[in-house]
Amino acid sequence: MKVFINKIIPAEGIKRLTEAGLEVTVWREERLLTREEAIEYCQEHDAFLNVGQNGVDADFLQQCSHLKVIALHSVGFDNVDVSAATRLKIPIGNTPGVLNRATAEIALLLMLTVSRKALYLHKKITEGAWGISQPTKDLGVDLIGKTLGIVGLGRIGSELGRICKQALHMNIIYYNRGRNLEAEKELNAQKVSFENLLKHSDVVSVHTALTEDTTGMFGLREFNKMKKSAIFINTARGAIHREKELTQALQEKIIWGVGLDVTDPEPTSKDNPLLSMENAVVFPHIGSSTKETRDAMSRLAAENIIAGLKGEKIPYPVNPEIYEEKL
Ligand code: DGY
Repeated sequence: MKVFINKIIPAEGIKRLTEAGLEVTVWREERLLTREEAIEYCQEHDAFLNVGQNGVDADFLQQCSHLKVIALHSVGFDNVDVSAATRLKIPIGNTPGVLNRATAEIALLLMLTVSRKALYLHKKITEGAWGISQPTKDLGVDLIGKTLGIVGLGRIGSELGRICKQALHMNIIYYNRGRNLEAEKELNAQKVSFENLLKHSDVVSVHTALTEDTTGMFGLREFNKMKKSAIFINTARGAIHREKELTQALQEKIIWGVGLDVTDPEPTSKDNPLLSMENAVVFPHIGSSTKETRDAMSRLAAENIIAGLKGEKIPYPVNPEIYEEKL
């Protein structure tokens, strides 16, 4: 059985696949594979291990309907038409759980970096502009004891809540479709309406999946409802915020600061105005990029492929209903 991988994943994942007797092809070129190339490769393989970049839409799936499994090297699966895969009975696997801490830490890093203007001040040194420090110049804001509003209190959001509660004694409020009773108990988190979260949060941090409902969820209308002193953090998906409106909100001081690990589009242009703004920090989607986390993600992806090729239920399915239907 043959597996196609569209980027270089950690050796640990490859080792698992080869030890399971699978023939592995890895796209190693320093250029992004085109959609047509991805389809051609997939047509010659039995399984596809997809690292982010290639969108797997209904047409892609139709052209590769022979695939026995598609394993994503991510927890997010917004780049796949899951309903189309389900109709074709192709199991789609993701990598839940193992990147919670790493991603929550990036959200925390953004909060701290924005709140102390750290990146902007670092840049000033590199430009030879340290200057004379004044007690009233380049001031940041405290986070301690402030209110953190988490949009999407799932695994990553809860991890951030835990860190911020313990380290910064922050008060946690959240907006979810359902209640997260565990977090309510552990973090004393309070579920509020979206409007109240916008109104009361000192930091709003987004951890929800990208869906039709969450696309464009944060625009000028929402930023206008936030505190003028608020910091907006997004480590989930760039399309959840409207980037032009977010930039305008910061330029017009409608909100105080912005920290993004995700942009719309990705990669962002070097001319993105957010890159040169005092109270904005942008990272290139590095939420899960630690050695340990990427190793673990490659392990989970390999486990999904191996099970899928054996015709077994994959351990981390995003469309488990395909198994129910088979019963
Ligand atoms: C994920 O796993 O979804 C992260 O965003 C990394 O892409």
